[in-house]
Amino acid sequence: MHTNTSTFRKLVLTSVLLIYLVIAAGGIVRSTGSGMGCPDWPKCFGTWIPPTNISQLPANYKESFKVGHHLIADFNVFKTWIEYLNRLLGALLGVSVLVTAVYAFRFIRSKPELFYLSLLIVILTGIQGFIGAKVVATNLSKYMITIHMLIALVILSLTLYLLSKTIIQNWKAHFENGNLILLLSVLTLIQILVGTQVRQEIDTVSIQLNDSLRETWIDQLGILYIIHRVIAIFVVGVNVWFASRLLKKLGSGDLPGKLSLLIIFTLALEYVFGVIMAKFSIPRFAQPVHLFLATLLFGLQFYSWLISRLQVEKNLNAI
Ligand code: HEM
Repeated sequence: MHTNTSTFRKLVLTSVLLIYLVIAAGGIVRSTGSGMGCPDWPKCFGTWIPPTNISQLPANYKESFKVGHHLIADFNVFKTWIEYLNRLLGALLGVSVLVTAVYAFRFIRSKPELFYLSLLIVILTGIQGFIGAKVVATNLSKYMITIHMLIALVILSLTLYLLSKTIIQNWKAHFENGNLILLLSVLTLIQILVGTQVRQEIDTVSIQLNDSLRETWIDQLGILYIIHRVIAIFVVGVNVWFASRLLKKLGSGDLPGKLSLLIIFTLALEYVFGVIMAKFSIPRFAQPVHLFLATLLFGLQFYSWLISRLQVEKNLNAI
């Protein structure tokens, strides 16, 4: 049965990696304004592999690919390919979660929850793809964007749960109070939701100013931005306190210690990128990095919590 588990582990791990790649790509699409890089869907400029040069398009492409009643913008190979790669990664993730669910069917008797969770992930990924397309195409309300972010984190959490079920080692005894780690991830989740609202305000300002005067954007943010910064300090405080306690007790050699170090490292980088945005007029490259690191932080904390409550005898390897 061991081979089964490790194949399942590889499949789930592939999904986790693809989830992060899709989050990174989505962030880059948003910060570079590449959402309309492909005017049509699911094809891009009417083909499965989009053009690399304007000469490959018909002369009247702005008219023939118009969206609703609007002519599209000038062809920009950079934006088109960013959007295309984003779609490609999304499709790969779709395949990956589907294959995982099909594979998990073999556990339907021994561990039904693994199959049903895999199936739920497939459904949520489908819904997420649908909402994602809408968010980009219509610049939808902040509720949609928040829901999109929440579903992404739910998909990530469920997949990490599956991953934790493929672990062979029992870490439970290593943790004094595993539930505290759950609190850390909930705190990060709250911070991510506040961050999403801050980002929404940035979008509103940027639209009002026609993407100009970037250096004034930060000053136009309201109370949510202050809350975001206050929570950030709090997040740093409790995470450093928790990690130093854990490292003192366990050292950094094993998985819990390694995860703790990674969490602190990710959090430090996240903070630095927040400060970079605040001090340097929100450089475009910093936006997707800040978003990516936030989801990485959440994933690492949530995974730490999952392994803190692992009881190996109940795991897949015990089947
Ligand atoms: C615990 C640390 C932090 C986390 C987890 C976090 C998370 C987030 C998230 C998820 C977003 C939304 C990104 C998006 O939707 O594209 C965001 C936006 C933002 N955050 Fe943070 N943040 C943290 C710390 C900070 C700090 C310390 C600052 C500044 C000093 C900061 C400044 C900003 C700004 C300016 C935005 C909006 C910019 C944009 O992406 O357009 N953040 N944050």
